[in-house]
Amino acid sequence: MRNLNQDTITQAVIARFAATPDPRLKEIMTSLVQHLHAFAREVKLTEEEWFKGIEFLTRVGHITDGKRQEFILLSDTLGLSMLTVAMNNDKPAGCTEATVFGPFHVEGAPHYEHGEDVANGATGQPCEVRGTVRGMGGEPVPGAVIEVWQADAEGKYDVQREGLKQHQARGVLKSGPQGEYRFKSILAEAYPIPDDGPVGDMLRATKRHPWRPAHLHFMIRAPGYETLITHVFRNGDKYLDSDAVFGVRESLVADWVEQPDGTWLVEYDFVLNPASSG
Ligand code: BEZ
Ligand code: FE
Repeated sequence: MRNLNQDTITQAVIARFAATPDPRLKEIMTSLVQHLHAFAREVKLTEEEWFKGIEFLTRVGHITDGKRQEFILLSDTLGLSMLTVAMNNDKPAGCTEATVFGPFHVEGAPHYEHGEDVANGATGQPCEVRGTVRGMGGEPVPGAVIEVWQADAEGKYDVQREGLKQHQARGVLKSGPQGEYRFKSILAEAYPIPDDGPVGDMLRATKRHPWRPAHLHFMIRAPGYETLITHVFRNGDKYLDSDAVFGVRESLVADWVEQPDGTWLVEYDFVLNPASSG
């Protein structure tokens, strides 16, 4: 096909995907082309602007490695991660809501017993976290695998600390016979997402801030239930209504209460969705 112009090129590109054997891949590629072309038309994208876009994406790729995932940051700050989470986790009322995974989960975190301290040397005010894991009918979920991870008092995850050999402020626990869980850690504090790369440049150019409200990350797995990936957010945080990655849900906000001895306590009960319902 020759002499394609701005009126005919979109259909010509879509036709080039006509023989895609996987129908889902065909649907995605067709829609992607349609929407990308529509976007370029709508903003009347100049060649110079598109070249800047390519340079930006190239920088996103170059800064990404095993420890730094700038593509996740980009997806998160554009709300695409949260949109995908929301569309795919439309759980029945009463279930704990899901939110973004974020780039700081790691496999192989240490296992802890009930009541143990997952901080493992991370800086921060001492805090106890406890609650239950239950099903929709209120039944306890014993033996649920609970992964928790959080930033330290300086807003850094262990994986962001150059040269740190041990896992800090992350761990894996199992719920007890009544679905109960309990561990010690450090007080969750608000922190900025990494903004020393191209995503940070985008935030500055658009006068957006990089802050996330204080939170704990959880991933909870139990046979017969959907895996839950979520956060518990700290009530009162000034960034709850302007999270840089759009992840806050009212039902995930909990009170961190300072105890007379100066430690903190947060209690949160998780409710899992049965695997078959979704
Ligand atoms: C996080 O909460 O760990 C996170 C989520 C999205 C982007 C950056 C960090
Ligand atoms: Fe986080």
